[in-house]
Amino acid sequence: MPTRVDPIGPEIYRISTYVEELDLQFNQFLIRDEEPLLFHTGLKQHFPSTLEGVRTLVDPKEIKWIGFSHLEADECGALRQWQNEAPQSTSFCSFVGKIVSIDDFVSERPVRGMNDDEIISTGQYRFRFLRTPHVPHCWEAGLLFEETTKTLLCADLFHQNGLVEPLTSSSVIERFREAMMTFQSGPFADYLPYTSHTEKILKRLKELKPRRLAPMHGSTFEGDGEKAIDELAQAMREILAE
Ligand SMILES: [Fe+2]
Ligand SMILES: [Fe+2]
Repeated sequence: MPTRVDPIGPEIYRISTYVEELDLQFNQFLIRDEEPLLFHTGLKQHFPSTLEGVRTLVDPKEIKWIGFSHLEADECGALRQWQNEAPQSTSFCSFVGKIVSIDDFVSERPVRGMNDDEIISTGQYRFRFLRTPHVPHCWEAGLLFEETTKTLLCADLFHQNGLVEPLTSSSVIERFREAMMTFQSGPFADYLPYTSHTEKILKRLKELKPRRLAPMHGSTFEGDGEKAIDELAQAMREILAE
């Protein structure tokens, strides 16, 4: 399982495992700060290679925060493994995620249930938790916005297929469109719902004016995040709602 580690921002690293059969990258993000933070645990089956990747950046025992967006194997499948590797760490997800599923059968120990707009400070960096039900998908979904670098850790939003570059300043919206069209015509149709709340949540994300959008699948985009989220909303409306 080839896993590579690349910087995508100041002390922000993308640990990416490419799965050829799916033609898909699974990216985890490690932010190296006084209190290192990992966003998404990755799949349980990828844990050994993700761990090796993280080891090139920090001693895994030093990881202080382990967060994820929603209940899915790529988001939190290796949560227990990471918790055992980093016994001093605190895991977190949305309050709904904690109460409804995570504490019961996913986590080794109780996680911190985050409310909307709650902040985690890791030293230099400040992470705002955003409650985003059903965006990208799942009731318990949340996203994380790092305020000093204006980096939005956006989970499955901006999903791109293929073995793509870690970081780009070219628009990734065509890749997102292609991936959604491919999914819509096969067994993975209706991957992302388009609900009455979708526009409102995307508008809120847009207003954060992110400078960097870091998705779990595909390249991180650096540039005008406001415009990119506008294009994302339009693509989702066209492909998923109509
Ligand atoms: Fe997902
Ligand atoms: Fe995902």
